[in-house]
Amino acid sequence: MSATPDLDARRLELQQRGVAESDLVADPFVQFHQWFDLCVAEGMHEPEAMIVSSVDSAGQPSSRHVLLRGVDHGFVFFTNYESQKGVELTEHPQAAICFPWNLLARQVRVVGRVEKVTAEESDAYFATRPRGSQIGAWASRQSEVIADRSVLEGWYAEVEERFAGIEVTRPPHWGGFRVLPAELEFWQGRESRLHDRFRYRRSSDSNPADGAWTIERLSP
Ligand SMILES: Cc1cc2nc3c(=O)[nH]c(=O)nc-3n(C[C@H](O)[C@H](O)[C@H](O)COP(=O)(O)O)c2cc1C
Repeated sequence: MSATPDLDARRLELQQRGVAESDLVADPFVQFHQWFDLCVAEGMHEPEAMIVSSVDSAGQPSSRHVLLRGVDHGFVFFTNYESQKGVELTEHPQAAICFPWNLLARQVRVVGRVEKVTAEESDAYFATRPRGSQIGAWASRQSEVIADRSVLEGWYAEVEERFAGIEVTRPPHWGGFRVLPAELEFWQGRESRLHDRFRYRRSSDSNPADGAWTIERLSP
């Protein structure tokens, strides 16, 4: 699959230029924003799409896309807490994220602990959603087996009727997770597989609030 001519040209330029230690900023969140903003500026479709992996009680990982909805001291997304990922991330609050920005020969990986965002944060975000999405959040019993599409449409119609003429409140089973990075990796594809990889790790595990990160180059 090919990208737009502009994206193609930009990808080749980035691959040729590469990333040097001196290009990196000390704060990985600032670094993330720089790379994210470039994706936006280059017109990439949904650069906020990220693959989140969770693990079940047997150690079986599962991955799926979600949309990044905010970055503060962690990476925030919203979902159904009773879905497969919701249950797994609640029972085993560790996640891996991958931003597959392959159209620019880049990827960013994040691993870390997971927490639920506050109910206030979930309420605030839910309130910004289009009404159809709000109703859908009530109607979808995410990850459950259903007989056919009419079942889903029936649930949607029921919820629509329940909230007719009034504001749709946030379902208690719907809200945000925040992945708090312990490590992040910025990967820039280069020629001959001599890619540039840089890993940020918290300098002090005992005091994650101290803000310092160790940056190391990894072999491709
Ligand atoms: C581009 C993209 C973005 C998505 N964003 C979300 C999202 O933000 N939240 C969500 O719950 N599901 C989102 N989904 C659907 C999930 O990938 C997944 O199908 C769903 O959450 C059920 O996952 P689970 O059964 O593993 O819990 C998205 C899918 C795609 C392809």
